Amino acid sequence: MSAAVPETAEPPHVPVLLDAILTLCAPVQGVWLDGTFGAGGHSRGLLDAGADRVIALDRDPNAFKMAVDWADAYGGRLKLVEGTFSDLDRHADFGLEGVVLDLGVSSMQLDQAERGFSFQADGPLDMRMSGSGRSAADIVGGASEAVLADILFHYGEERSARSIARAIVNRRKEAPIETTRVLARIIEAVLPRQKRGASHPATRTFQALRIAVNDEFTQLAAGLEAAERALRPGGWLAVVSFHSLEDRVVKRFFQERSGRGGRASRHRPESPLREPRFVAANKAVFPSAAEVARNPRARSARLRLGRRTDASAGPADRSRLGLPREILP
Ligand SMILES: C[S@@+](CC[C@H](N)C(=O)[O-])C[C@H]1O[C@@H](n2cnc3c(N)ncnc32)[C@H](O)[C@@H]1O
Repeated sequence: MSAAVPETAEPPHVPVLLDAILTLCAPVQGVWLDGTFGAGGHSRGLLDAGADRVIALDRDPNAFKMAVDWADAYGGRLKLVEGTFSDLDRHADFGLEGVVLDLGVSSMQLDQAERGFSFQADGPLDMRMSGSGRSAADIVGGASEAVLADILFHYGEERSARSIARAIVNRRKEAPIETTRVLARIIEAVLPRQKRGASHPATRTFQALRIAVNDEFTQLAAGLEAAERALRPGGWLAVVSFHSLEDRVVKRFFQERSGRGGRASRHRPESPLREPRFVAANKAVFPSAAEVARNPRARSARLRLGRRTDASAGPADRSRLGLPREILP
């Protein structure tokens, strides 16, 4: 194994729950796939801990630009691929030792005002991780009031979804809503300033729009299934999520695939016990107080881990995964 590559001066994005993954999956070896490369923190951590190779995917081509300084030092051990994790098994036609998905957006994406992910900086209302397809401005400008309300409610758990949707529609009759600042102002006018320490009133709306723009729940369900196909028996699936909607899907996936499906609702029959595809703990792993102090972005993170069995892969019953319903065609 080659020596660890030295740290860059200031990592642009601090990897969340990396130590927990490395400890719980030790000894780290074989070929891993990092489905959310970002600034490469998890990929580097896995390589430095002993993975033979890492195949690293990101749907954002900008992510790889930052890796030019250090990726070469790993030689052929790190392969960077622009793509989505929904079909991650296309990139590995052999059994992987592990798959890591660190969901959501990176600090770099949030910090670049021109990407439009953050209400804290003014920029175009974009939010497309890949830079192509329908932008947040397209949705805010074109969706009906009912669809907007559904997006905010189902993807952002925004209780004032209807009032915000109405305010958006009223405002866009006057002028198109094209920037993050204009949208944030509209939301601030609907939701009076909240208590000290509470999140900004635009947080849930921005989360919801980002999820809709990037079709994040379809990606997640497909990515979990693709990981099941790609892992060798004994291989690890590690998923770090940042909000309860995401975590619910990951938790239900592991329950369903480890034969602990239970009932999707009171009205549905219990999941028939089948050959488990994963062995997974029911409990999530949370960052330590020290990690949160070092990296405040970690505070809402949780990690779920499962280990692949030798049962053959198959599609999950998506109706049991607690996926919010699809809103945009
Ligand atoms: C939280 S960041 C990952 C940070 C990374 N683990 C690190 O330590 O630097 C999430 C990254 O995943 C990418 N991403 C999100 N959804 C994706 C998907 N469905 N397929 C591929 N990449 C995705 C984003 O573009 C972003 O760069």
